[in-house]
Amino acid sequence: MESIALAAADKPARYRELLPQLAALLDGEPDLIANLANAAAALRECVPAASWVGFYVVRGGELVLGPFQGKVACVRIAFGRGVCGTAAAEQRTVIVPDVEQFPGHIACDAGSRSEIVVPIMKRGQLVAVLDLDSYERAAFDDVDAAGLLPIAELLGTLAW
Ligand code: SME
Repeated sequence: MESIALAAADKPARYRELLPQLAALLDGEPDLIANLANAAAALRECVPAASWVGFYVVRGGELVLGPFQGKVACVRIAFGRGVCGTAAAEQRTVIVPDVEQFPGHIACDAGSRSEIVVPIMKRGQLVAVLDLDSYERAAFDDVDAAGLLPIAELLGTLAW
């Protein structure tokens, strides 16, 4: 199987390097769980600042934990709750530089300090959110949002 090889040190270049490698990794494999599991692992390699990388999948009107890398996490999140539920309800990327300043943040890991959540859409419908957490304050910014956007678009083409 292919492995992920990221040489660049700077964030924009790392995301640019990841995209074609992730596309190759997913290509030809129809299984959603396998693809999300590998995507979470590849993203964790790409983003060294991330303590947790994973998916919450839309299931029966709420978000349910999907494949991830990191510590055990909350299983179900209602739309509108926490950072993930806010990104899902508003269908937009939410960057939280300091989770202690975000009302309703759900602390799955007490060590988490910052977070970014990106919606994954398939044909105009929300299918999941991609969540990255960090133990560092302000680990995520517009560069991450811009880098994760085409990755979320690629993941939107999977067999949801
Ligand atoms: N902190 C998230 C919950 C998910 S965990 O971080 C993995 C939130 O507020 O939605």
